[in-house]
Amino acid sequence: MKIFIDTAKINEIEEAFSWGIIDGVTTNPTLIKNAIDELKNKGEKIDIETYIKRILEVAKGCPVSLEVIGTDYESMYREGILLYEKFNKIANNVVIKIPINPSLEEDGNFDGLKTICRLSEQGIPVNVTLIMKVEQAILAAKAGAKYVSPFAGRIDDYLRNKIGWKDFKKDEYYPEIGIKFKDETINDEGIVSGVDLVRKIVEVFNKYKFKTEIIAASIRNSRQVREIAETGCHIATIPFYVLKEMLVHYKTSEGMKKFVSDVVPEYKEIFYK
Ligand code: G3P
Repeated sequence: MKIFIDTAKINEIEEAFSWGIIDGVTTNPTLIKNAIDELKNKGEKIDIETYIKRILEVAKGCPVSLEVIGTDYESMYREGILLYEKFNKIANNVVIKIPINPSLEEDGNFDGLKTICRLSEQGIPVNVTLIMKVEQAILAAKAGAKYVSPFAGRIDDYLRNKIGWKDFKKDEYYPEIGIKFKDETINDEGIVSGVDLVRKIVEVFNKYKFKTEIIAASIRNSRQVREIAETGCHIATIPFYVLKEMLVHYKTSEGMKKFVSDVVPEYKEIFYK
């Protein structure tokens, strides 16, 4: 499984790349906002184009998703081309992120698919975002997407909200097999958790040998990463705090303390004379 980092914070991207575990970067307007707000709070001046170029250089050799901001075909297509032409020459690693259904109402329009199709036809790699159902992933793949991004954590949020459960923490674990409420597993048209959504997309894509890669997104905790890995999903895009959480275990720290306290002078002498 490839690991992408889900952030626009350059310090996090640089640090994570230095660990040798990162295969790509995903951003979106919210992640860019978080990064910019943090810099503004520190009183730093921001030139957004220079900032994005730095991200692309740090991630050289690995794909970096940049998202459009429009909500109709004309603007998304224009913005996708603009982002690609402006930034891909820096390190040849730009992927354009397009929402599967850009409608702001709870209905559908096909502008996302049309944009995915047109950009892909021109050889521009597209990452299709806000995938919340298997059907959307199928359509995105058929339209030529290089990647689809199912939002696991947001599906878990949605399932909790369905039963009026509001007081959960954002990074709280939600079981892959779902949660029972009044004798029925809470579900969204048969999907019982975010990981279940990812698993079903993996199954369908494997069955039909789709070339589109699946990026499990909206990941909230390390156990969810493990379950995503078990599905055979190609990629997980992981926030910085979850990457750190993946490293931590009580017995690892306990073991470290014991090793450190057991170092005898004779052994220490090898290293420090
Ligand atoms: O990759 C999508 C991601 O950034 C959304 O995450 O936690 O806001 O649902 P979240």
